[in-house]
Amino acid sequence: MEPDYQKYRDIVDKAKDLPTLSSIVHRLNEMIRNPNTSAADIGLLIAQDVALAGTTLKLVNSAFYGLSQKVNSVTHAIVILGFKKVKNIALAASILNAFKNQNQTDFDYSGFWEHSIGTATASEILATALKSPYTDEAFISGLLHDQGKLILVQYFPDEFQKIRHLIADERITMQEAEQRVLGFDHSLIGTWLAEKWKFPEHLTLAIRMHHKPLMASQHSELIHLVHTADILCRALDIGNGGDPYICELNQQVWTQMNLSSERLDELLGKIMDSMKNVSEFLDLVRQ
Ligand SMILES: [Fe+2]
Ligand SMILES: [Fe+2]
Repeated sequence: MEPDYQKYRDIVDKAKDLPTLSSIVHRLNEMIRNPNTSAADIGLLIAQDVALAGTTLKLVNSAFYGLSQKVNSVTHAIVILGFKKVKNIALAASILNAFKNQNQTDFDYSGFWEHSIGTATASEILATALKSPYTDEAFISGLLHDQGKLILVQYFPDEFQKIRHLIADERITMQEAEQRVLGFDHSLIGTWLAEKWKFPEHLTLAIRMHHKPLMASQHSELIHLVHTADILCRALDIGNGGDPYICELNQQVWTQMNLSSERLDELLGKIMDSMKNVSEFLDLVRQ
């Protein structure tokens, strides 16, 4: 039977209490595409939203970025970290803010965000190690890859309870359980939210394809990074991925990355180390 996509998509599209993204974030996305935009233009725009600017600076100055000097303005942050990175930090700040204070049911929000931040960190570390052109986008893509789960918990609570029971009773992965109950999984729900929020295409695709990395015809390198980072975090037991099972790492993706076991060990060590420096990110959603 064909799943009733429209019924569920309508719930997401019409949800009134769904977090809204600051209009500044939408303008940032537009400005970044314009080659004439200067660091000062971006700094001025972010500074218009005091809360967003404050959170962005808090993250920029967090141990995660390990800067040797304190950064006091968004323009200064752009000079040091670059346009794309600061834009993505501002986007992360606004999304973490939008999702804070959610305490629906007995869902493990803390574990969810730890898994998301772990995947973000691992995506960035992998991107850097592989000299990927997606180094600046990797963190935000990893951070949001499972955002559909938040919608599932909040807007489809009955289905979510069925999914939980199936995971426990049948010992299957969360995606398999979602497929059985809904006919689709959280990657599609996350895509609806990405489209509603007008995320850039690479980010929308990373959310949509993270469980079927070979099906992407565009931005496949970014999708492969997030797919691999997700599974590495599960293997390292970082946070809670929604079920006790580790999905299979796509062999073709893994072979293409061409990482020796020594190199992999080194990267896993780096991921564990950088997880010690993400408390500012976690604090944002725990407040
Ligand atoms: Fe997922
Ligand atoms: Fe995940």
